[in-house]
Amino acid sequence: MRLRSRRSPALRGEVRLPGDKSISHRAALLAAAAEGKSRIEGMLNAGVTRVMLDSLACLGAGFSWEDGALCVTGTGGCGFQPSGGGGTKAQPLYCGNSATTMRLLTGMLAGIPAWESTTGGREFLFDGSEQLRKRPMKRLFAPLCEMGARISPTNEPGRAPFRLISSRLNGIEHRMPVASAQVKTALLLAGLAAEGSTLVEEPSPSRDHTERLLRWLGIRLTAEPGWARVFPLEKPLPSFDLRIPGDFSSAAFLIVAAAIVPGSDVLFKDVGLNPRRTGLLAVLRRMGARIEERTHAELSGEPVGDLRVRAGELAGTVIEGSEVVDMIDEFPALAVAAACVGGTTEVRNAAELRLKESDRISALAGELRAVGIPVEESPDGFAIRGPASIRGGLADARGDHRLAMALAVAGMVSADGVEIDGAESIGESFPDFPALAGALGARLA
Ligand code: S3P
Repeated sequence: MRLRSRRSPALRGEVRLPGDKSISHRAALLAAAAEGKSRIEGMLNAGVTRVMLDSLACLGAGFSWEDGALCVTGTGGCGFQPSGGGGTKAQPLYCGNSATTMRLLTGMLAGIPAWESTTGGREFLFDGSEQLRKRPMKRLFAPLCEMGARISPTNEPGRAPFRLISSRLNGIEHRMPVASAQVKTALLLAGLAAEGSTLVEEPSPSRDHTERLLRWLGIRLTAEPGWARVFPLEKPLPSFDLRIPGDFSSAAFLIVAAAIVPGSDVLFKDVGLNPRRTGLLAVLRRMGARIEERTHAELSGEPVGDLRVRAGELAGTVIEGSEVVDMIDEFPALAVAAACVGGTTEVRNAAELRLKESDRISALAGELRAVGIPVEESPDGFAIRGPASIRGGLADARGDHRLAMALAVAGMVSADGVEIDGAESIGESFPDFPALAGALGARLA
């Protein structure tokens, strides 16, 4: 699908974002493992969360949508009760492009919970799209195998597809070489079914939605920024009613658009403002952006609030160190802001971006150059000297939803408009993006 984004008039109005993707994944997984019926309001209904739900359905969980909320009938066991052969050779657990689905489910299925009598492990086969097959899984397999999990990749070491046989696990103390909330979460979920406690330490604190959710559910866990220790469950997880805040990472594209399209003034309602997710706000403020923030509630342990963003003059900045982790998904959006500012914006210590849905350093640099934004690539980041005169033209999303939306924002400040090939990838995380941007005044078609 091709999407055209033309130079935009001032963006104005109020916007409510779809539910947070990371929290949606975790909530669906925990509800599917819980005993009884759960209800999740604000559940993201997009490509990546649908593959999570499809996999959980293969494992025996029941789902229905009622008045926009997701109702889940849980299986009552971390090890699940495969129905219809879910995860078997005949029907692998297909995770599409969703690394979150693959990594979290692997952790959850690796162990046999203490209260289950099964002695033999169940066997699950995991697979994903060509794109997901290229993403690194070794960082997850190594500590899980140290806990006692049995994982054997069927094509290439350290990558999907792979076979998992659930086993009796032992808790470990693991120091992750790279901060990753997905790996941390998978290990904590495995820890729920292990013997003894499981400690996970990270070089920089990553998003802590799992820790907040487990604590909110009353699960025994101790955590500080940079580490978390979980204790084995003694009985099945309890069912719950949860409301999920709006996704800050989806808001990020419209926040940048409102900051750079002259005359814009946009109010974002009920956005998740977990500080481990909002690094972009601190960076944009340092660049001079006019952002007002009002945190007004906690939803299931997560801070939620409103943001008002107005356009203004911006200046370049440097982003490095732990700030990178707090905005790991926001670099495509930030790069477009960087093109519009006076001076150079430089990103360092962000080699992890090369392992996302695309190599987000070279793909971003290549596609932004195609529309007139000069980007200098480095092994662990990039630099953009602004203000660039964004000519526009044809660009390719390269199967990366965030690259597609960043290109659409670039189109809003371009001379001739940007045409994005492969724009259907937007449906992976934010299917309503064109409609919501359009309602604010953007010209997307
Ligand atoms: C996510 C963690 C991040 C992020 C991804 C979602 C999560 O990935 O990029 O979009 O839900 O835990 P990593 O754990 O690979 O850094």
